[in-house]
Amino acid sequence: VITKIKARQILDSRGIPTVEVDLYTNKGMFRASVPSGDVTGMYEAVELRDGDKEAYLGNGVTRAVKNINEKISEALIGMDPTLQSQIDQAIIDLDKTVKKSELGANAILAVSIAACKAGAAEREVPLYKHIADLSGKTDMILPVPAFTVISGGKHAGNNLAIQEIMILPIGATRFSEALQLGSETYHHLKVVITEKYGPHECNVGEDGGFAPNISSVQEGLDLVKEAISRTGYNEKIKIAIDVSATTFCIGTKYDLDFKSATRSGQNFKSGEDMIEMYKELCSEYGIVSIEDPFDKEDWEHVKNFSSLGLCQVVGDDLLLSNPKRIERAIRESACNTLLLKVNQIGTLTEAFEVVKQAKDANWGVVVSHRSGETEDSFIADLSVGLAMGQIKAGAPCRGERLAKYNQVDFLMHAHGICFPSCLVEISFLLFS
Ligand code: PGA
Ligand code: ZN
Repeated sequence: VITKIKARQILDSRGIPTVEVDLYTNKGMFRASVPSGDVTGMYEAVELRDGDKEAYLGNGVTRAVKNINEKISEALIGMDPTLQSQIDQAIIDLDKTVKKSELGANAILAVSIAACKAGAAEREVPLYKHIADLSGKTDMILPVPAFTVISGGKHAGNNLAIQEIMILPIGATRFSEALQLGSETYHHLKVVITEKYGPHECNVGEDGGFAPNISSVQEGLDLVKEAISRTGYNEKIKIAIDVSATTFCIGTKYDLDFKSATRSGQNFKSGEDMIEMYKELCSEYGIVSIEDPFDKEDWEHVKNFSSLGLCQVVGDDLLLSNPKRIERAIRESACNTLLLKVNQIGTLTEAFEVVKQAKDANWGVVVSHRSGETEDSFIADLSVGLAMGQIKAGAPCRGERLAKYNQVDFLMHAHGICFPSCLVEISFLLFS
């Protein structure tokens, strides 16, 4: 049973406070910490911050920590950690608000994850196996990693509007090979960028992707293509992008120059122009997946683009892992893949429910990190246990990103779980 719960404030990969919790049972101590993103929306669970400008510029989480140490702890002590849904429900009942604003989704998720780790230990099964059992999965596969190699948007200080260019080593036959292809491409890219722009352009963004001061996505894609070709594995590595278009949507237009100091207003694109651009990118660069190609309320264009069936269309800001938004997107065929960020929902039980919702609609699911991360590798086990075939955890560089990828690799070596050896697990094929 749960005997003690103790939370504290720690700093995340951006140096911003977040919540860490130690949950104790007769089997030992189980630690979890929660990430934080750049984009928050009115539909996601509330991250409780102190707002006290005198400390951490208002970003402290001592209220969330206190909620765990006093209220949540009192409600959960004595409970069986294997009963995840009952634990999550007990916290939801305690919070009573729709968006978890009373206790804070950061407080709630930290405990939900720590309880899950304790539950696995109680049952004496690996964490991924416990997650598979809780979510009703019997088959287990390792996910294809989406490595961010170029960062832009809100994640970097360059002029690139789109947030991420990623590489997917879908032709790898083992996860360790995927990791190697990712790492090699990343290091070739560093050389390509240095040759073209100089070493000062090799600084990295928040999730570890290089952030050269390019201003067009095509320029970035050319760099990545060159890096891939230097690995000699052209056939095995595909390219994906996260546009995060909400970031630069102004009214009904998209401002691809939104970060440039000399904004000319010349680079405003309509939704139709954006569709034309994506068509070109898919045919010229063989892009297999596009995340948030339009503003989160631009349902019309995302539907029109998805209906073309050119690639996997991932909903992140569009869906916010929110069941009502997902339901609408399924009904209107607005996209075909859910980007799952557990901190947008707040408990694991609710995360399992939205995964089922997506799966029942024949969608893909990408288990995702946030731009502000910790060294907790939980989402690695989550992605394996859910068996949805894709994980996005940033660059193959920086500790908080590698914690996740190295853990998936460990699961391959320690438990012999297989890796999808071809494209079949990528859901866009289901729609082509
Ligand atoms: P965020 O970005 O964590 O800053 O929201 C991640 C993403 O857009 O995928
Ligand atoms: Zn995104």
